[in-house]
Amino acid sequence: MDSKSPITSKVSRSATGRLPTAFRMRRFLLLLFLFSPCLLASEPEAERQKELKQLLKNDCGACHGMTLKGGLGPSLLAKDLKDKPEDFLVTTILEGRNGTAMPPWKRFLDEDEVEWIVKWLLEDRGVEDRR
Ligand code: HEC
Repeated sequence: MDSKSPITSKVSRSATGRLPTAFRMRRFLLLLFLFSPCLLASEPEAERQKELKQLLKNDCGACHGMTLKGGLGPSLLAKDLKDKPEDFLVTTILEGRNGTAMPPWKRFLDEDEVEWIVKWLLEDRGVEDRR
């Protein structure tokens, strides 16, 4: 008799905990699916990383010094950048700084690439590691 009542059967199913768990799992998978592009898209391809290191040395190095110790622009060594917020550095590179020689790079670099560069700088990787 109990099992024929829709209400009772609903209650007893959820009492086992199986149904809610399945729903939570589905929600988790859905969120994972929705946010996975943010997790996966962040690293440039190996080939592009090589180009970015070349850019750091040749283009950024023209102002910030071949070894990034500073020149016309300030030092980009990790010890000199470590107290500045990452977002601030990313924005500086993407947008440049009005009224200074620092040009915007957003025409050449997307945000993921700039984030990668900032991480590279903060990890003190230097410009000679170009394999
Ligand atoms: C034409 C010269 C020039 C080039 C090329 C250049 N910069 Fe700059 N950059 C500057 C100057 C000048 C400043 C300082 C701006 C100021 O006075 O606030 C600066 C500031 C910065 C800062 C902020 C540093 C801090 O301590 O706040 C970062 C980060 C930076 N540059 C990264 C780069 C990167 C990465 C590249 C290459 C993609 C690059 N710059 C290319 C001139 C240049």
